[in-house]
Amino acid sequence: MRPLRPIERSTELARVYVWEWPVRVAHWVIVGAILVLSATGYVVAHPPGRWAPLGTVKAVHSYAAIALTLAFASRVAWMFIGNRWAQWDQLLPVRRERWRGLGPTLEWYLFVLRKPPGYVGHNPLAGAIYTLVFLIELLMITTGFAMYSVSAPYWSPMHAFGFLGPLLGGLQTARWLHHAGMWLLLGFMVHHVYSAVLMSQVEANATMESIFSGYKFVPEEDVVSPRVRRATPPSP
Ligand code: HEM
Ligand code: HEM
Repeated sequence: MRPLRPIERSTELARVYVWEWPVRVAHWVIVGAILVLSATGYVVAHPPGRWAPLGTVKAVHSYAAIALTLAFASRVAWMFIGNRWAQWDQLLPVRRERWRGLGPTLEWYLFVLRKPPGYVGHNPLAGAIYTLVFLIELLMITTGFAMYSVSAPYWSPMHAFGFLGPLLGGLQTARWLHHAGMWLLLGFMVHHVYSAVLMSQVEANATMESIFSGYKFVPEEDVVSPRVRRATPPSP
């Protein structure tokens, strides 16, 4: 049996500060807000009969909505001022290398390739999915503001969002989209936590820890030239 070489292995890895604190804080505020918004939103959609602190439930929904909106806005701003792994082009696969990496990354997920793709931040496929997730969050914010604008007190500046209702196809459509978006986000969460735990184990690069600490441990060559590894090098 080949002896294990933990020391040599660890010297090949670079400790990289991938997720700066605004990315991590935004992530966890968004997660907390979505959980609170889903619980309170579900109660609004299915009011439990005579048990009725519904006003409080709606108030909690509004406060969590403010937290979600601020965290979302700060993450979008960070897509333009953050480090290279937080940038917008790591999400939207518009650059040629990212676009070309989509197919091979899918091959890796489908067990066609044997080595995980060598990207330090998000791989191109994960980035593209996160783009959709951010768009669903934006949908929740616009439909939510559209609904709130019609029930806000008469003096409220929130009436400024009244134009959103007709744009979204009417308030009933907005409400339906708002409800469907919740299930999409909760469905995504199940898949996301499963694959984050799995990839963190398979890649052994501290992906799971990174969303708390910011650091990943990655092969140095991936920092210099991130790519999909097509061939498995022959074992020594
Ligand atoms: C991920 C985030 C969110 C989730 C999961 C969520 C969930 C829900 C659900 C399930 C409902 C009930 C819909 C129905 O009656 O079928 C609802 C209602 C509502 N939500 Fe959200 N929501 C979110 C974000 C927001 C945001 C950002 C706002 C912004 C103000 C907002 C404002 C509202 C309003 C005004 C209602 C209608 C309450 C009423 O009927 O009086 N929501 N939400
Ligand atoms: C509804 C809940 C969640 C949503 C919408 C969500 C969304 C996201 C998004 C958009 C990113 C990309 C980060 C960025 O570029 O800003 C991300 C990364 C990440 N999330 Fe979540 N997340 C959720 C819940 C969770 C939970 C509960 C965990 C852990 C138990 C988790 C673990 C991670 C990890 C480890 C990463 C980093 C992945 C990487 O390095 O590529 N997430 N999440």
